[in-house]
Amino acid sequence: MPSVSTKGKNMPESPIRKLVPFAEKAYKANKTVYHLNIGQPDIKSPEIAMKAVSEHNLEVLAYTRSEGSEEYRKKISAYYHRNNIPAEANDIIVTTGGSEALLFAMGSIADVGDEIIIPEPFYANYNGFATASGISIVPVISKIEDNFALPPISEFEKLITPKTKAILICNPGNPTGYLYSKEEIQTLAEIVKKHDLFLVADEVYREFTYDGSKHYSILEEESLAQHGIIIDSVSKRYSMCGARIGCMVSRNKEVIATALKFAQARLSPPTFAQIASEAALETPQSYFDDVITEYQDRRNTLVKALKAIPGVTVGEPKGAFYCIVQLPVKNSDAFAQWLLEEFDDNGETIMVAPAAGFYSTQGVGLNQVRIAYVLNKESLIRAVEILKIALEKYKD
Ligand SMILES: Cc1ncc(COP(=O)(O)O)c(C=O)c1O
Repeated sequence: MPSVSTKGKNMPESPIRKLVPFAEKAYKANKTVYHLNIGQPDIKSPEIAMKAVSEHNLEVLAYTRSEGSEEYRKKISAYYHRNNIPAEANDIIVTTGGSEALLFAMGSIADVGDEIIIPEPFYANYNGFATASGISIVPVISKIEDNFALPPISEFEKLITPKTKAILICNPGNPTGYLYSKEEIQTLAEIVKKHDLFLVADEVYREFTYDGSKHYSILEEESLAQHGIIIDSVSKRYSMCGARIGCMVSRNKEVIATALKFAQARLSPPTFAQIASEAALETPQSYFDDVITEYQDRRNTLVKALKAIPGVTVGEPKGAFYCIVQLPVKNSDAFAQWLLEEFDDNGETIMVAPAAGFYSTQGVGLNQVRIAYVLNKESLIRAVEILKIALEKYKD
């Protein structure tokens, strides 16, 4: 019997998707499941993007250039300039989602056995991309008690070794909702320059900031021109997760030339989806104003309701649409499974993402879950009510 690879065996399961079989069981038992586990927004994709695809006049659905179509990259560059990010079309490689941008970035800057420092908890799939690339993630812990603020410089410097190639941040953060301040970005800039590292910033939630706070991109920091790499995506910005379009951005020419070779190996990002994404760039600001008001309202509703449950602690998200919630349970994996398999309240239950998979330190986050506020307010209120009832019934 031929055997699969060790790398394959080491690939982590997605903590966001691994409970799906139990959710299937819940559907079969006719339960309604409120999905708090996955960042699939319920917001409509911009009409202009959908129309561009339905009204296309292509006769051949051909490949585009490996780095993405020139027209699209020019328009993305204009979008970045509007956001104070001096990125030109040649600094951009269009990818199949932010996911592929992460793979290209890791492949372009680190060799097998190299290390990347990431504040944890972090987007769980970083574990998968690092495993696929043979890279070790070195976590620096940020804590719920500090609302997941950046750990002090000394914590990062303790972890830097000759194998360290980069620091990777997610800003605003999935799963914490943490938004890095300009000062924190400047602190990170000092560290990466001092130790000659890359700073990779996953900015796929750039637009989603609340309470009037503004996102500060790493490439707004001129001194990071050679060190900074942005990971981006249309998935959340335009609620176009299924388009599978993202990009990798760097003003470092060698990084882009290297990433381009990875892009050439997979030929081209999807053509229809680039048409939709190019049109989406014309989305009026009023779309974002409405969406951000909606998410901010949802966040307020969710956090207030969660705080009212005895024994529950919740971080205060300032951006994106997730929060980490600490529950009075020993093992949130078992609790999440129990919610789907054994519990219901009037035929309804909830699905949450156990948070341990968002940490790479073993044994941390076992009593935490990640909740995505991608449901309307009425559903969120009902979902939190179900959580409260479930916690009263659950025996660890
Ligand atoms: C932080 C973060 N980065 C990257 C991605 C990848 O998104 P996509 O491949 O859909 O662009 C996601 C998706 O949820 C995410 O939350």
